[in-house]
Amino acid sequence: MPRTLIVSNRLPTKVLRTDDGLTFQPSEGGLATGLGSIYRQGDNLWIGWPGLFVQDEGEEQHIKDELRDDNMAPVFLTEDEIRDFYEGFSNSTLWPTFHYFSEFATYEQTHWEAYVAVNQKFCQAVLAQAGPEDTIWVHDYQLLLLPELLRQARPEATIGFFLHIPFPSQELIRVLPWRTELLRGMLGADLIGFHTFGYMRHFLSAVTHLLGLPAQNGQIETPNRSVRVDAFPMGIDYERYAQAAVSKEAQQHEAEYREALRDTRVILSIDRLDYTKGIAQRLRAFDLLLQRYPEWQGQVSLIMLVVPSRDQVPQYAALKEEIDELVGRLNAQYRTISWNPILYFYRSLPLEELTALYHLAEVALVTPMRDGMNLVAKEYIASKGDQRGVLILSERAGAARELSDALIINPTDMSQLAEAMHDALVMPEEEQQTRLSAMQALVKRYNVFSWTRLFMNQLAYTKMKQHTLATE
Ligand code: G6P
Repeated sequence: MPRTLIVSNRLPTKVLRTDDGLTFQPSEGGLATGLGSIYRQGDNLWIGWPGLFVQDEGEEQHIKDELRDDNMAPVFLTEDEIRDFYEGFSNSTLWPTFHYFSEFATYEQTHWEAYVAVNQKFCQAVLAQAGPEDTIWVHDYQLLLLPELLRQARPEATIGFFLHIPFPSQELIRVLPWRTELLRGMLGADLIGFHTFGYMRHFLSAVTHLLGLPAQNGQIETPNRSVRVDAFPMGIDYERYAQAAVSKEAQQHEAEYREALRDTRVILSIDRLDYTKGIAQRLRAFDLLLQRYPEWQGQVSLIMLVVPSRDQVPQYAALKEEIDELVGRLNAQYRTISWNPILYFYRSLPLEELTALYHLAEVALVTPMRDGMNLVAKEYIASKGDQRGVLILSERAGAARELSDALIINPTDMSQLAEAMHDALVMPEEEQQTRLSAMQALVKRYNVFSWTRLFMNQLAYTKMKQHTLATE
């Protein structure tokens, strides 16, 4: 029976070492939920890094055994590999370049070599598991070389690839010394998926300009195969958020928060700590709002949840300091005995507390400088059962292509952002409802399950067409 193998840098389970031994924590990420319906079925499998360095073979075996029961196979990475492949090439070369932060990108040959080696390591891990009939679905920028490595070993395999971050203009791609290898790596897949048509167009243009390959109607002709390229905007598990927001636990949290906040109105922002998310710019825009409309002082608080991430990468550590400093300065400048302008949390929260915040917040600020999709915007919408609330969304998040009923802003335009916050705070309830209900219908329908289905069906169809053409 053919199986489906999912491959991503991180597994949907995180293994942690505690005083009581190893603990296995399910990841709450959108990808894990969406693909849960696939990898948990039958003999299907998810292959990836379990998030810790193993100390000895005994520990390695223990992790393998535990994960096998849950349809997962670990790829163990060493500290050097995490430094050079993960913090290095993935997050100091590819991440900044693909998000238009070229000035942060480093170009280190040793990082590149580690990237090649780790992609090869993943390839061996997949080959050890994959049968000739199996479908392999590779995810994200950490594994751009993997499709081609697999193709060389298994010319007939069915391979899909999905990029979860933006694909930038080819002008940025061409800066990378290893651009040809990276593009060829992706082209090992039969189907390549992006969140938006814009990213897909950039990819097609990079392939034509940098590799000289003909591309038409989402089809690229390589010397021996054709590769299909398409847009699949990723969704969320809508019901999970809608239900969690009205669960007893979330309602209790919300009641507590309301009591503590008294009548203060709430603007909410939730992100992983990342310079692509526009967190510092958002704080400056909130400052501008309070200057321009002093009547909001004492009336509105910004609840800002920042989830720790990649803190070994220098830019992330520097950003953390910048945010700490800005929040401190603004709070010191504006606060009163009874009012906190900014309530800043540096941690992650469980689902019920998160949805309680979504449900409570009158305004959500999702203002990244660049973002492949941004699922926080969709989670906010799903949590708004009473249809009261306003989403302010950056035009440079993939989600803006679908969520046109949000207040769409340019995140570098402080003035526009401050005005959008003011407009959101005074927006009549009827207008809030109209906008939210349109977006809810969309987010509910194009959810993570339909996303998975669409991609898998398209992959099967692409493969079938290749076979038909080959036998004609
Ligand atoms: C983004 C990437 C994912 C990544 C996630 C968390 O959403 O597209 O591939 O897993 O960030 O980042 P981390 O570096 O902690 O895996």
